[in-house]
Amino acid sequence: MTLSALNSLLDQRHSCRAFLSDPVPKDQINQILTSAARVPSWCNAQPWNVTITSGPETDKFRKALQDEVTADTPSPDLPFPASYSGIYQERRRECGWALYEAVGVERGDRAGSTRQMMENFALFGAPHCAIISSPTELGAYGAMDCGGFVTAFTLAAQALGIATIPQAAVASYGPFLHRYFNIPDDRLILCAISFGYADKDHPANRFRTSRAAPDAFVEWVD
Ligand SMILES: Cc1cc2nc3c(=O)[nH]c(=O)nc-3n(C[C@H](O)[C@H](O)[C@H](O)COP(=O)(O)O)c2cc1C
Repeated sequence: MTLSALNSLLDQRHSCRAFLSDPVPKDQINQILTSAARVPSWCNAQPWNVTITSGPETDKFRKALQDEVTADTPSPDLPFPASYSGIYQERRRECGWALYEAVGVERGDRAGSTRQMMENFALFGAPHCAIISSPTELGAYGAMDCGGFVTAFTLAAQALGIATIPQAAVASYGPFLHRYFNIPDDRLILCAISFGYADKDHPANRFRTSRAAPDAFVEWVD
């Protein structure tokens, strides 16, 4: 394995916001899970639990989630960021506008941006959805370990040509998810990962996000 091979995988991965309906073979999903579970975790606790939907169960969940979103208000297990300010707000806006521009939503088009946002709850048409949870007792560190798992999941999937998108939006309906999937209350639901094969021609998949170079985030002490 060379750094350039790893960089190539990192460059190929992007958050997919339009999927084909074709299912991913279960042995490939198992390969992704096996690879993702190789990430480090504090005390090697491996705190991730994953609930994965396939086939008609994904469609059933998609419908139930959309019904929930119209009937209820968001209540994530893990409170969402209080605000994004300064450079974080700029980056948030930049990737939001890139998406809206790609799908033809103009500035000020509230109905258009809401329509695109609601695609989250249609799981962007994905044939599979993975719900990631961590034991409440491990607090922020369990969530941190699961973050590594989520990233590795997306990269392992990419290595198999399978597209992914981590989704906090799905986790915003915590109580519903606990009920629907029978996820115990001593676990925090952190996010979902919708996955499948990318609809490469879809406008929502035609933009890429940028990254700051190390100079923007490193303080060298030497
Ligand atoms: C924990 C987490 C939650 C995310 N939640 C959402 C989400 O709810 N909806 C969405 O469209 N994208 C979501 N994303 C995708 C980010 O917007 C995306 O990773 C970021 O803009 C960088 O783009 P890229 O993944 O294409 O490189 C999430 C990403 C992460 C890591």
